[in-house]
Amino acid sequence: MLVNMKELLADAENGNYAVGSFSVANMEMVLGVLKAAKELNAPVILQIAEVRLKQSPLEVIGPLMVAAAKAASTPVAVHFDHGKTMEKISQALDIGFTSVMFDGSHLPLDENIKQTNEVIKKAKQYGAAVEAEIGCVGGSEDGSEDIAINCTKPEDAVRFEKETNVDALAIAIGNAHGNYKSTPKLRFDILEEVERITKTPLVLHGGTGITPDDFVRCSKTGIKKINIATATFDMVEKTVHDCYTENSIGGYYDLQAAEVEGAYRNAKRHILIFGTDNRAKC
Ligand code: 13P
Repeated sequence: MLVNMKELLADAENGNYAVGSFSVANMEMVLGVLKAAKELNAPVILQIAEVRLKQSPLEVIGPLMVAAAKAASTPVAVHFDHGKTMEKISQALDIGFTSVMFDGSHLPLDENIKQTNEVIKKAKQYGAAVEAEIGCVGGSEDGSEDIAINCTKPEDAVRFEKETNVDALAIAIGNAHGNYKSTPKLRFDILEEVERITKTPLVLHGGTGITPDDFVRCSKTGIKKINIATATFDMVEKTVHDCYTENSIGGYYDLQAAEVEGAYRNAKRHILIFGTDNRAKC
């Protein structure tokens, strides 16, 4: 069932866990994530980032994501990740996404606040939730840019919350998109301080490669949404590769099944770490 992301984050707040937000690029990944959600009775978020629309056009994958969420047996929010332009954010809202991210992390704080408020005004017309980002998560969602990590200043989070009342706030605590070169050292001191002085549900980007212990610690320290992209793509590729190596792909539909399986395994693993199993309220 399609739900607003705000509801999922409020439940996560009450239950002291985080919800997985899984990037998808095709129908097989959508089906794999929702298979894991159904099996584990878990709420999930399906997302796609603006930079990924080159491969998966929004007008094609967007309606598919919304339709799949509506047909799902557990609560599913459909989220537009790293929105850069009002044009694409508006298109996602028109398609029925229940939340959008405006990524103004590269902007000066004043401008980020101003543009986030414009997106909030637009999203309100649709009853959709908005996520924003302050500080700078490293890398970029599709690996095309090598953005340096710029950790969030806790006082900026306070000001941002006060001046936007945004529904979810992505912060930078040493996390980065893509595969880490070595295990990341997350700045829990910053996270603890932001959690202490703000009330907004926090979002952790760059989930791939973060250790299970750190995920759990984050989820108990204000992080209510965790984004996973690269791990899904890698697991889908690996599962397909393994099936070819084992000679278990005899034709196209076996290949399709292997893709679903890869996305399912990855989502299942993360749902169990995040503690979202058996949290579906339907
Ligand atoms: P990873 O690719 O590191 O999992 O990051 C996902 C993400 O944060 C998408 O916004």
